[in-house]
Amino acid sequence: MIPAMRPVIVAGNWKMHTTPAEAGELAATIARRTNEPDVVRVLCPPFVSLAAVRDALEAEPGAGAVAVGAQNVHHETTGPYTGEVSAHMLQGLASWVIVGHSERRRDAGETDELISRKVQRALDTGLRVILCVGEQLEDREAGHAADLVRTQVRGSLDGVDVAAIAPLLTIAYEPVWAIGTGRHAQGSDAAAMAAVIRATLGGLGFDDRGEEIPVLYGGSVSSSNIGDFMDEPSIDGALVGGASLKPDEMAGIVARAGLTARARAQR
Ligand code: 13P
Repeated sequence: MIPAMRPVIVAGNWKMHTTPAEAGELAATIARRTNEPDVVRVLCPPFVSLAAVRDALEAEPGAGAVAVGAQNVHHETTGPYTGEVSAHMLQGLASWVIVGHSERRRDAGETDELISRKVQRALDTGLRVILCVGEQLEDREAGHAADLVRTQVRGSLDGVDVAAIAPLLTIAYEPVWAIGTGRHAQGSDAAAMAAVIRATLGGLGFDDRGEEIPVLYGGSVSSSNIGDFMDEPSIDGALVGGASLKPDEMAGIVARAGLTARARAQR
C-alpha cells in the first residue's frame, strides 16, 4: 500500500560539474525535456550555479515546477567557517538540499553526528532534505548492509524532531559501490533496503511506520534501468548523478517516473 501523499521524485545531483553559464542552459533544457507535471523534479547544481539555475528555470515558461536544490549545507548557522555555506544563505536560491552524500562522508569526513546537525539546520530554515545513506561493497559482502544503513538513518536523525522533519524528509538509498560505477543495484535490493529504512524510521517514531517518507534509489541510474526501480512500489524515484547532466537521459528517466506517478494517482 503506497500512501496517496507519497510523490514520485527525480532529483539530479550535478556534483562538481557545470559553470554557472553552462548550468543555466542545462537546467532550461532539462526543464523543457522533462515536462511531467506528476513528477517532482529537482536539480542540484554546485553552489556557485544555484542562482543561474534558479533564474534560468524562472525564465522557462511552464518549467516553474522544477525545484532547485543545494548539494550540501553547513552544520552551523553562521560563524568563522571559511568557504562554507549556511542554510540561511540558501534562502531564495534553493528549496531542497542533499545531506550526507557518500562523497562528502568520504572526502569531508562527514559523520552521522555531523549530518544530523545539517539536517537540523535544514529544518530550521524549511529546506527539504534528501538524506543519503548507503553501504560500501565490503559491508554488503560481509552481510552488514542493512545494519550499516540502519545505523546511518538513526545517527543522521539523532536529536531531530521527528514530527517536524517528516514533511521535509526524503531518503536516498545510494549504495556506494553503485555510484559512478555503471553497476546499479537490483530493484529488489533497493526495495529490501527501503523496507529497512522505513522500519528504522518507524522505530524512531515516524508516523505510519515510515510509510509516508519517500525513498529514492541512487547509483548509476539511467534511462535504461530506471524502470527496474520504478517497478518497485516502495521506491519513489531516483537521485541521479552522471545521467542528470544529459538531457536525453533525464527525459527518459522522468518519462518513466511519470508512468509510475500516474499509475499511483489512479489507485
Ligand atoms: P551516479 O548516478 O553517477 O552513479 O551518481 C549517483 C549519485 O551519487 C547521486 O547522488
